[in-house]
Amino acid sequence: MDPQVFVIFGASGDLTQRKLIPALYELYKGNFLPKNFAVLGVSRTELSDDDFRKEAFLENPHLEGENKNEDFAELLYYQAIDTLSAEDYKKVRERLSAIDENRQTGGNYIFYLSVPPSLYPKIPAFLADEGLNDNGAGWRRLIIEKPFGYDRSSARKLNEELQKYFHEDQIYRIDHYLGKETVQNLLVTRFANGIFEPLWNRNYIHHIEVTAAEDIGVEKRGGYYDKSGALRDMVQNHMLQVVAHMAMEPPITSDASSIRNEKLKLFQSIRPIGESEVDKFVIRGQYISAPINGKQAPGYREEEGVNEDSTTETYVALKFFIDNWRWADVPFYIRTGKRLPTKATEVVVYFKSPPHHLFRSELDLMNMNNQLIIRIQPDEGLLLKFGMKVPGAGFKVKNVDMDFHYSDLTDADVPEAYERLILDVMKGDPTLYARGDSVEAAWDFVDPILNAWQNRPNIKLYGYPAGSWGPVVANKLIDGENVSWRNPCKNLTDSEDYRLL
Ligand code: BG6
Repeated sequence: MDPQVFVIFGASGDLTQRKLIPALYELYKGNFLPKNFAVLGVSRTELSDDDFRKEAFLENPHLEGENKNEDFAELLYYQAIDTLSAEDYKKVRERLSAIDENRQTGGNYIFYLSVPPSLYPKIPAFLADEGLNDNGAGWRRLIIEKPFGYDRSSARKLNEELQKYFHEDQIYRIDHYLGKETVQNLLVTRFANGIFEPLWNRNYIHHIEVTAAEDIGVEKRGGYYDKSGALRDMVQNHMLQVVAHMAMEPPITSDASSIRNEKLKLFQSIRPIGESEVDKFVIRGQYISAPINGKQAPGYREEEGVNEDSTTETYVALKFFIDNWRWADVPFYIRTGKRLPTKATEVVVYFKSPPHHLFRSELDLMNMNNQLIIRIQPDEGLLLKFGMKVPGAGFKVKNVDMDFHYSDLTDADVPEAYERLILDVMKGDPTLYARGDSVEAAWDFVDPILNAWQNRPNIKLYGYPAGSWGPVVANKLIDGENVSWRNPCKNLTDSEDYRLL
């Protein structure tokens, strides 16, 4: 791999300690980092290199218990600047040149913006003033975290601003769901197996469900969350990315642009939910105070940083269609929420029932249909449900499970999402990053829903007790007899005890 410097803006922030340095350290231990490598932390706080080494690595509480190799600390440098002062970026340039000389890092830089979104367009402009955006003297790459805009028009504006200074192929937009092994595995399940793909269409699939449940509330992020809500926080990005992996057409090759082109096409094929249809296709909810395990959990409006009259949704469930040859008339249902009974993300593919019900009297119709459950987290794995004859007289049919758990692959080390994603930028592989046009296309779907909520305040916001599965009315989104959401449990194969103990 090319020699390079990993520059973190916002280096004294929480993400650096919690995710970035631990991920870089894992890569270091696994010998994945290039031989000539350094990290430059940049932030407002005055710190020396040694202070930063202590704070980010040697005394990092998120690395407690690690038997640390102190040589890694030598790779860390720090530069204090006022991020809003153009002048100060000279210091960054000079520091980088010094590191290049010291460590032979060849002028190749990754700039990771772990800063508030208001700085996203500003830092690239200041870097450009110093020629630090220019691929000439070495390559230059820029990583940003969500939110990529607040709605369609701000997302477009952000893209335009970033693209003024960096080419699209230098910009890496992190969606940490794409770094999850199990999300990547959706493509392998579909495209590396002869048995699934032939069935992966409207002829055999009845409907698809995606659930991303969280048992936690908004914790310390009330201030951010209250302006965001579940639709922006989880659906516009993570959940639509999962849907894209489930539903996109086979790419021509496994390279970044083939895969990203197919994802864009998929986003463009999702039928928008018009403002006037939002009550029919979207259910929004907000958790209210209720006892969980004998302790009263606060309601959303009582959380720190949240407006006491807030109408921000902490739960959303949607039904939509994908208007293309493969998926015509197949409903997709997605839901996500905070303060649900457990933390689990999974996709459920419900197959159609056989054309002729030979054992009809014995079947509990839809619930007996074949289901493929793809578990994103936790207890990552696959579960296939199918009917078997109960031994004995007659033809009694029972649904049984065939399951695979990632934990059975004892020799597989499942890397953390950030490790995988950071390594990919280092190699210059954008496959698992969101492309600008796709981000805008995903906003195209979400925007009318946000507008409807804003323009038609009489659209119901349902309260649901903390620790429940959200508004009961969300069950009505799913049509058909005997069909309801599958409520995931902590363990993939359990079907009753879903509460995390
Ligand atoms: C983040 C959201 O992007 O994803 C959080 O901002 C959410 O609100 C988190 O909790 C969920 O990620 P994961 O990996 O825990 O499913």
